[in-house]
Amino acid sequence: MKVGDRMSTVLVAGGAGFIGSHLIDLLLTEGNKVICADKLIMGKHNISHIAEGESFKFYDIELADQDSVDKIFLDNHIDIVYHMAANSDIQKGGKDPAIDFNDTLLTTRVLLEGMRKAEVKKLFFASTSAVYGEMLDVELTETTGGLMPVSYYGGAKLASEALISSYVSMCDMSAVIFRFPNVIGPRLTHGAVFDFIRKLRKNPAELEILGNGKQCKPYIYVFDLVEIIMKLTKVFSPGEAVYNISVTSPGTTVDHIAKIVAEELGLRNVKYNYTGGDRGWKGDVPRFSYDISKVLSTGWSPQYSSDDAVRQTVKDAIKEGM
Ligand SMILES: NC(=O)c1ccc[n+]([C@@H]2O[C@H](COP(=O)([O-])OP(=O)(O)OC[C@H]3O[C@@H](n4cnc5c(N)ncnc54)[C@H](O)[C@@H]3O)[C@@H](O)[C@H]2O)c1
Repeated sequence: MKVGDRMSTVLVAGGAGFIGSHLIDLLLTEGNKVICADKLIMGKHNISHIAEGESFKFYDIELADQDSVDKIFLDNHIDIVYHMAANSDIQKGGKDPAIDFNDTLLTTRVLLEGMRKAEVKKLFFASTSAVYGEMLDVELTETTGGLMPVSYYGGAKLASEALISSYVSMCDMSAVIFRFPNVIGPRLTHGAVFDFIRKLRKNPAELEILGNGKQCKPYIYVFDLVEIIMKLTKVFSPGEAVYNISVTSPGTTVDHIAKIVAEELGLRNVKYNYTGGDRGWKGDVPRFSYDISKVLSTGWSPQYSSDDAVRQTVKDAIKEGM
């Protein structure tokens, strides 16, 4: 990503997390200078393999704090901001709305303000299918209207998207917004695949499944995701571009995920116990379906189906010693 005659300097907010750290690996491989800012909710292990120096700098900061963020923009000439920070523990956020307000929404506001003052014009934002709320039988396109999120997390992401839209218009910024589905792969720290491995390691005879197991969603492998993030942030067009991101095959059910995890762990005769109901927790959306023709028209195509992504992620977790 060349800006004039030099490589880009990018700020990855939330870069020590699962997806952000993979994005940083790719940004560095392509020769960019990376500034990572994170308060390390998940720890520092995802970026511990990267040496600090000329091409990588780390700031341990609260991204909802304006002074801390402004200092990064003052210290560094940033070309692009990748905003990957958010609360990823949806159930924890469900018990305390202040978590999503701070980590998912305020971080967006503060980063946008920092960008406005420093005149940084390019933003990538990690949004989510949760902005659509519960539209179970609609094929969701980027222009589907009447969005009514059913979780604080989804509300904070949709509010972030609205703020971004206003800054794009008022400050002549360019933004690329991806609405991710479930993302899985190496370094995973949450979600059904992670939980099932953890629970089955503890008790290989039984597995508690939240809901009725019929929840059905797409799962994208993290390397497929960071590839398309890089592709669509090499050139920014004026204004705002929103993309639904998913796999080309149908989603997979929670029951099927449990079966794949048990198979990969070499377990037979696992007894599955269901907590009941059509969803895992309040604020969960039991199923959704995306129209992804817009992102496919860029020439990108994901390598992994949902099932393949699940299977590969279990293999990755085993390799990581889980
Ligand atoms: N993983 C998924 O399935 C998924 C799905 C849809 C959208 N997303 C979005 O993608 C992005 C990355 O998700 P992830 O799975 O890598 O999550 P993650 O929890 O692994 O990473 C998020 C990082 O943000 C940091 N962070 C959060 N709030 C912060 C704050 N106030 N100040 C400083 N640092 C802060 C955390 O310390 C963490 O390192 C998030 O915005 C998430 O909402 C993820």
